[in-house]
Amino acid sequence: MLNSSDILIESFNQAGQGQVFQFFDELDAATQAKLVAQAETIDLAEVKELVEEHVKGSQHHTLNLDGLEPAPYEALAANGGDSAQWSAAKDAGSVALQAGRVAAFTVAGGQGTRLGYDGPKGTYPVTPVTGKTLFQVFAEKIARSGERYGVTIPWFILTSEINNDATVAAFEAADFFGLSRESVHFIVQGLVPAVDYEGKILLAEKGKIAMTPDGHGGSLRALVRSGAVDAMKAQGIDIVSYFQVDNPIVQCIDPAFIGFHVLGQSELSSKMVPKAYALEKVGHFCVQNGSALVVEYSDMPDEMQEETKAGGGIRFNGGSVAIHIFDRDFIARAGGSGEGSKLPFHRADKKIPHVNATGETIQPDAPNGVKFEMFVFDALPLAKNPVIIEAARADDFSPVKNAEGVDSPQSSKEDQLRMFARWLKAAGEVSRQMILAFQ
Ligand code: UTP
Repeated sequence: MLNSSDILIESFNQAGQGQVFQFFDELDAATQAKLVAQAETIDLAEVKELVEEHVKGSQHHTLNLDGLEPAPYEALAANGGDSAQWSAAKDAGSVALQAGRVAAFTVAGGQGTRLGYDGPKGTYPVTPVTGKTLFQVFAEKIARSGERYGVTIPWFILTSEINNDATVAAFEAADFFGLSRESVHFIVQGLVPAVDYEGKILLAEKGKIAMTPDGHGGSLRALVRSGAVDAMKAQGIDIVSYFQVDNPIVQCIDPAFIGFHVLGQSELSSKMVPKAYALEKVGHFCVQNGSALVVEYSDMPDEMQEETKAGGGIRFNGGSVAIHIFDRDFIARAGGSGEGSKLPFHRADKKIPHVNATGETIQPDAPNGVKFEMFVFDALPLAKNPVIIEAARADDFSPVKNAEGVDSPQSSKEDQLRMFARWLKAAGEVSRQMILAFQ
């Protein structure tokens, strides 16, 4: 009689993925059990679809650019926006915060390969003077916002199986940075297998499948599958403030942003920053056939990125900085499995270290296979009443992506110092005005 691992192995054979178990008989019992457990998490039907669409199908999807327009947005008051609306939004956001409707959500499940730091990115020391880690910076901001609005703001953190244990250990070691343990929730995102150019699942080791996190877009289904969405509902939370782990200057909790989201009855709101220059490598906020969407720079021809408006200025100027607010029920929908609501996967060609058919470990020096990822901004066309507001880059966006140069620890530290200097100057100005008022 076949046992459950025989049945599993047979299903991989049937799917043309029998190579996953090629070295099975050489493994010790514990490694065999781990490989079986890992293989059980794989949705072979999903892998088949991905391979057919992205590996065997036409490799370059060209986006239809017909009718693409820049998305409208709420400009900052300093840039011509309506200051009364900004202050009404701030009030509405404050009310939602005081009512305990808001949670913070950090996506920290990525591998951070470009930074080349050994550990979860959130444990990277990022501040210029005292070297606080990214997690500590966010924890302090969330705690202060909670104090300001008289509530405990729950914090959901997306990890992956690859970095979850190290992330939890870092929080334990820091005594949760002073936050209550019950308010911090780790959500482990799914992994998808990497494949070669024939669509065969790759082995990282003889007893281990090469698997990678399913992208920040996987955060939505992770929130649903983990039960976090239901837990939010039970706590009366319906506003989820989303940001990335690599951006220390982000306003984790921004009352005006929350207010625009609430007043606009939006399912998904986004911050945009004007592009620094026409060909800046950011996604562009656009509208097409009445739906909002983000078009990646790689999908938009250079001439289009460089187009100017009649009165001057870049036409497609809205750069995406991965700061959003989600409506909880929208997460349930976009992260659920209902037809028409699933986020698409994208293909990324990567150098994937693997064990070849003769059992040798190969460290490729050119891309040899494909990883699959979902992008969170692909939820935008699914959302009702999307709201986009302008943010000042200097107040919200300075990510740590690369070891050096643009978006590096050094550039982010410089941006942080400039921000602190502005805060001090502004505080000085306030005290000067107060003194003058009393004279
Ligand atoms: P990036 O696109 O910068 O990817 O992620 P990365 O994996 O962190 O870094 P590289 O490309 O390997 O250098 C942007 C944000 O999305 C999160 C990351 O943790 C980061 O906050 N992310 C990315 C996830 O949470 N899960 C993923 O599967 C991918």
